[in-house]
Amino acid sequence: MDVMTAVMTRRSEQTLHGPAPSDGEFAYLLRGASTAPDHGRLRPWRWVLLREEDRDALGRCLADEAGGDEVTVERMRAKLRRAPLVAALVFSPREGRIPEWEQLAAATCMTHALMLLLHSRGYGSIWRTGALARSATAAGLLCLEPGERLLGSLDIGTPDPTATRHRRPMEDVSGLITSFADLRSRSAADRVPAGHGAA
Ligand SMILES: Cc1cc2nc3c(=O)[nH]c(=O)nc-3n(C[C@H](O)[C@H](O)[C@H](O)COP(=O)(O)O)c2cc1C
Repeated sequence: MDVMTAVMTRRSEQTLHGPAPSDGEFAYLLRGASTAPDHGRLRPWRWVLLREEDRDALGRCLADEAGGDEVTVERMRAKLRRAPLVAALVFSPREGRIPEWEQLAAATCMTHALMLLLHSRGYGSIWRTGALARSATAAGLLCLEPGERLLGSLDIGTPDPTATRHRRPMEDVSGLITSFADLRSRSAADRVPAGHGAA
């Protein structure tokens, strides 16, 4: 699949079945995604992979935080079982000359590259934040170090093969691009000549 096709046909997939990539295949794809732009090559992120019952442990932890009744436990369990692989994304900003926002941008570039690589191999994914990204208990369960932050998780698996997916239409981005020459001529026309302003 060429890059434009991958970009234009990827979708966030709400429902995912097996198979999901093995740990080895995930690592292989991550090696590719890790070539995404990363100022200082800090790799300020890591992934924690959850499968099978591990997902329930995380679901229980989120349910406990949300009240802990039977209904909430079942709801959280179902949420964590929406995909065979839940990959929690841990942001690990490094001290130093690279500002934290740039490190967050690098983590985001890597994640998008990973989603595209997964898609190019027939897997689906969706980045989810929600309760997981806010949960102090989940951060403890996933052994986050001081200064680290959960950026949510990627649900990963195989999308429903019978669902019809159309190539996305090209967006109209004309309002999102300006040439500097236009800006300069516009601001020159708007400029009030010296001595001609309001009295
Ligand atoms: C940082 C981030 C957080 C997201 N969190 C959620 C979420 O909590 N729940 C959800 O259903 N989708 C979430 N999404 C997926 C977006 O809703 C999705 O990308 C958007 O609807 C566009 O769909 P598309 O990816 O198919 O283009 C998130 C996406 C990003 C980039």
